[in-house]
This record gives sequence, structure tokens and C-alpha cells, in this order.
Amino acid sequence: MKIISSPKEMKEFSASMKAEGKKIALVPTMGALHNGHLSLIDIARQNADIVVVSIFVNPTQFGPNEDYDKYPRQLQADAEKCEEHNADVIFAPTPDEIYLKDASTFVNEEQISQHLCGKSRPKHFRGVTTVVTILFNIVKPDVAVFGEKDAQQVSIIERMVRDLFMDVQIIRAPIIREESGLALSSRNKYMTKMEQDGATRIRKALLAGKELVDTGVTNLDRIKALVIHKVTDAKTRVIYVEVVDAKTSLPISELNIGKSRISIAVWYGETRLIDNIII
Ligand code: PAF
Repeated sequence: MKIISSPKEMKEFSASMKAEGKKIALVPTMGALHNGHLSLIDIARQNADIVVVSIFVNPTQFGPNEDYDKYPRQLQADAEKCEEHNADVIFAPTPDEIYLKDASTFVNEEQISQHLCGKSRPKHFRGVTTVVTILFNIVKPDVAVFGEKDAQQVSIIERMVRDLFMDVQIIRAPIIREESGLALSSRNKYMTKMEQDGATRIRKALLAGKELVDTGVTNLDRIKALVIHKVTDAKTRVIYVEVVDAKTSLPISELNIGKSRISIAVWYGETRLIDNIII
């Protein structure tokens, strides 16, 4: 497995693979890899000849008071995991290699990004779509794999790929959870074991919402109210609970069974967590 940091070298490697007719898959990550990321690498492996995992803590998707500085960075441990899962390349550039000093161009999706996480993290998705475009331009993947825990992020990337006629197929991968139900996230590291146990109330609240729907309730306000009630405790501050279209992540006015999603974001103590469930 190669570790490449220079965009120029990455471009040359991809060009040489393409010249040999090889299909390239990209798994974009910010590192601190857990089993969720590893499942994305496995899916990439099944869909391409060459698997590139990018590891880049992207400064432009963090707000001024967010956790950019404390975000876990552990390239050595990540490299071992990538190797075990048969990745071919880790692309791990520095911020200066990705963003030139006077870079002034951003990619902005302007509809889906206004909702859910976009409301409380105003420039977050602009940072995501910009860096994903840069990564696509450097790695030139045929396919790219994203996890459905960040369902809104995947919807935005699919929209960007469609709108900008990008030649890359987006694969959605299912959420991977702890046995307790807690969705895997690099930010789970910020929590103690006790907090992680407590944070399982997020999954339980989503399941309660789904069970209500399974009994025949379709009123969106009732579904949201139940999820908010179930998740709330002294440690949990709800950022949003919304019922959205499962594919686009846009708000809906009527439930479409099997094609709707309850999306949630909370502060659990000092940690911002998101999760979702198809209903
Ligand atoms: O989901 C993430 O880890 C990041 O948002 C991504 C897609 C790697 C872009 O920095």
C-alpha cells in the first residue's frame, strides 16, 4: 500500500492506473478510522480495481468554534487498518497542498444544504462540496463511497455530481453501529464509556419513532414529538429532529412509507452527534 501526500503524485498515479484500464474507487475520510469507514473500504474493494482512501481533516468544513484542532489525527493507526482492508493507496495531503494561500473558489450546493445540519453549521457543506470536488479532480475516481450516517452529506454530493455532470458514481453505504446501537463516528472518541452508553438513547428514540409509524401513525408532528420526547434528558440538547425525503434529505409534508427518514442531531454533553433511520 502506498501513502501519497502530494496531489501531483496522486494525479500521476491515477492517470497511470487509468491508462492500464483500471477502475478507481475513492473513500473520502477525515481519518480516525473506525469499522464504519472500514466497511466503506470493503464496499469500494468490491466495486473497483484500485481503492484510494483519502485522509484529510478538511479545515473549510469546520466553523470557527468547532473541533478542527481537537479532531483526532492518527495516520499510523489508520494506515494499518487500510492495509488490513486491502486499500491500495492512502492519499493524505496537508491543508497547504489542498488549499493554495489565495484560493478563492468554492463549490456550493444551495438547496439541500439550507436544511438540517446546514442551519446550525452555515458553511459546513460548502467546505464538504469544495473538498470533495478537489479530491475528485485529483484522484479521478470512477466510484466514491459515502456512509449513510451522514445522509444529508450524501444527498448533497449526489446533487452536486448530478448538477455539475461529474463522471463519478456515488455508492451509499449502510450505517454501522456498536452493539449498543450507537452509530459509529470518529467523534464518539470525545465521549467517556458512560457517555457512549447514554448516547444510545438517540438510536432508541429513532426506533420509537419508527415503531410509531409501524402502528399506522403518519402525522409528522406526532412522530417528531415522540422522538424529541424520547431523546431528551438532562445531558441531551436537541439541535433538530426532522422527517425528510430519504433520497434528497429535503423536508416533506407527507410521509412516504419506506422512502422517508427521521434525521436527528443533538448535543450529548459536549459532543455533537447525528443519526437517522428510514421509516
Ligand atoms: O464525511 C466526512 O468524513 C467528510 O465530510 C468528508 C466527506 C471526508 C469530506 O471532508
